[in-house]
This record gives sequence, structure tokens and C-alpha cells, in this order.
Amino acid sequence: MNILLIGSGGREHALAWKMAQSPLVDVVHSAPGNPGMHEIGPCFDVAPDDIDGLVKLALQLEPDLIVIGPEAPLALGLSDILRARGFDVFGPSKEAAKLEASKAFSKARMMKYGVPTAAYGEFTQAAPAKAFLNKMKAPYVLKADGLAAGKGVVIAETLAEAEAEIDEMLSGKFGDASATLVIEEFMHGEEASVFVITDGEGAVYLPAAQDHKRVGDGDTGPNTGGMGAYAPAPVVNPEIMARVKREIAEPMLKGMAKDGMPYQGVLYIGVMATADGPKVVEFNARFGDPECQVLMKGLAGDIVPLILVAATGGLKGSEKDFERLLELEDFRPTATVVMAAKGYPGSYGKGSVICGVAAANAMDGVTVFHAGTDVAPDGALVAKGGRVLNVTASGATLREAVDSAYAGVAAIDWPEGFCRRDIGWRALG
Ligand code: AMP
Ligand code: GLY
Repeated sequence: MNILLIGSGGREHALAWKMAQSPLVDVVHSAPGNPGMHEIGPCFDVAPDDIDGLVKLALQLEPDLIVIGPEAPLALGLSDILRARGFDVFGPSKEAAKLEASKAFSKARMMKYGVPTAAYGEFTQAAPAKAFLNKMKAPYVLKADGLAAGKGVVIAETLAEAEAEIDEMLSGKFGDASATLVIEEFMHGEEASVFVITDGEGAVYLPAAQDHKRVGDGDTGPNTGGMGAYAPAPVVNPEIMARVKREIAEPMLKGMAKDGMPYQGVLYIGVMATADGPKVVEFNARFGDPECQVLMKGLAGDIVPLILVAATGGLKGSEKDFERLLELEDFRPTATVVMAAKGYPGSYGKGSVICGVAAANAMDGVTVFHAGTDVAPDGALVAKGGRVLNVTASGATLREAVDSAYAGVAAIDWPEGFCRRDIGWRALG
């Protein structure tokens, strides 16, 4: 079977790497892909938001399955357009992807289906937003409604700061994305991510993962796209996982289907484990990056049958069969360390030479996924993004996985790069 995978980050490299190992798969084509994905299959220079270009490419390649990695094409409705052309697509419709693309939509769905989340208000005018704020307690959580490249959430410590932020957001700080805002109650607890693969009716749950969003050790400094991740995350113990299924995932999937927008693909549930049980921080319509890297690396079995059935339907009642094919019981503790260009998430240089990736890949249990690399005209591997490499390793224990990942990092010679030194700290104690 031939797959077309959309995207170019570490998440997509991990998906390509995993899917290519399936006996069902002949070739994984990528658009646009990256130097790591190029080693797995052909890459085509079409951007993830070039919808016409992607449709043209699909018509040319006639893949048996199209897997959409990032949120941008989902929000633009790529899944619907490709399905209308007869393709099997892993990724939610434009309407269902609004669970990520519109925070107000997502909150309204949660309210309608009785799913636990922070109390909130939705505003387009400053006066009522500020009046609402006055009824809340610090810290104040303000969210741009639309997609803002992970920057649309502001947590303000004081009322004055929050009021100033309301004015800025409503006057276009994030463009159209902040024309509407959501103000939320602050939730206390530890965060984790749960990934549900679904055809809209049936559901298979992957082990919970935890991301490290701040740039500095000990969760300090500015937010990033994610500096590392590990799975399984023990904060989501069996009791919490059971509640996430029963109180969050099942009512969401049932409600969306009943309301005519069945959710197909992977639903990312950002969970806060609060004193009152798990509550939703956010939904995303795709795998997390870098959480996907640890999930793909840690899974012993074949994920392609599950991705295919999520795209085509028929999962309900057969979940146990797909869990067996995934060898979910044998999931290996896994960690990934993100190597980023010095300066990230602020401004950073491009073009610095990276050596040692092959040496790291040759180490026991280590796989290096490319996230922001390029090949220079002389053939050297160079940095071209903020997050550049994901050094990923599995082990018998999380401790072993983390140690192997850092041994991989040590094998990489890239003076212009840096990484966090404490990936997995919450689980390792
Ligand atoms: P989001 O994009 O909605 O996931 O928000 C980004 C980050 O802000 C989350 O990963 C949380 O760390 C934090 N956050 C968002 N909403 C809340 C909330 N209601 N209470 C506490 N922290 C939050
Ligand atoms: N790692 C967080 C995200 O993918 O949104």
C-alpha cells in the first residue's frame, strides 16, 4: 500500500518511520517532508497549506491512504476535499477540526456534552470581557479563539495585566485569531496528553504522554512548541485514564457524531489532573509534537491497520484486535529530547552544520527524528528551524530511556544547538 503523508516536522518523521516498518506498506511519500523523511521515501515540495497543490499531488500519486500531520491543512478543510475526491484520509473534517481551530467552538461542545473543563466566557468586546474578569480570581487565563501558532494563550498574574491583554488581543494582537477571546478559570494540577485514535465511533487509546513546554530546566523561561516528551506518563494512572475515557473522550465522540460532525483521526486531549479529577485544557486535531515521536518509537506493533480503519470506518467492536496489532501491552518507556537552535523560541541562526546524527542513530535503542534540518549544497546537514532534532530512545524503564536519549545527544556535534537536561523529571522524581 502507498501512503501520502503531509507535513515536515519531527512528528511526521516519526509517523513516516513507524508506518514504513509495516508489512502492509510499500512506500511512504511525503509532502514536503524533511531530510530524515527523504531517507524513508520520496518527498515532494508542496507546502502543508497549499491545498490545491496537495490535491494535485494526491491525484498524481493515487495513494491508498493520506495521513495529515499538522493542524493547518485540517483547519483549511483538506480532509473534506480529499474525501470528496474518493481518498481515504486520516484526519478530521474542517468542522470537527474546529475543536482545535476555535477555542470558543471547543468550549461550547464541551459544555453541550457535559465534559469537565475550566469555567469560561467568550467575548468580542472589551467591556463585558473586563466585567467577567472582575468575577474571576488570579491568575487569569486569556485565549485567542483561533490558531496562533501555540502563542495564543496568555496567563496574567494581575488584573491590570489581564485588562491590558484583553485590549491588545481584541485589537488584533493575533490578527483574526484574537477577534474573539475565551477567558477561563485557572486550573491547578499536572498536565498530560492523551491520544485517541478514532473513526468517529470506535476508539483506541495510546499511552499518556507528557510534554515539556518551557524552554528551561525545571519548567522555567518562555513557552515553546515542546522541548521534550516521554511516555507513559504516570500522572495519568489507570483510574484517571478510565475517567478520561468515560467523562471526556466518549461523550465528545458520541456528541460530535450525533451532531453530524463525526471526529475521524487522532484526538489530542490536553488533560489537567486536578483535585476534582481530569479536566480538559485543550483539544488538538492531530498528534502532539514531540509527543508523537515517543509514541511511535515506543509502540512495538503495527500502527498502520489502526490508522487505516480510523480513515475508513469499522473500528467499533474491534478495538481489542487493533490493540493487539499495536502490541499496546508491550509499549516501551520512551523519551525524546528536542535539540533546538540557540536563541529559540526567540530569534535564532540558520545554516549551522550538524554532525553525528548517524553515530547517534547507531546507538542501542536510539532514533533521531529530524524536525528542522536541511541539506546544504555541499551535502552537509544544517539547521533550518528552531526545533531541529528529536533524539528519541526507548528502554526497559523510563530512566534507561532518558539515559539513552542523552547518550544520543552527546554523540551529536552541533555547537549552535542546545537542549533541556531534565526531560522526564516529573516521572523520575
Ligand atoms: P492551550 O493552548 O489551551 O493548551 O494552553 C497553553 C498552556 O496554557 C497549557 O498547556 C497550560 O499549561 C496553560 N493553560 C491553558 N489553560 C489553562 C487553564 N484553564 N488553567 C491553567 N493553565 C492553563
Ligand atoms: N506538544 C504540544 C502540541 O503539539 O501542541
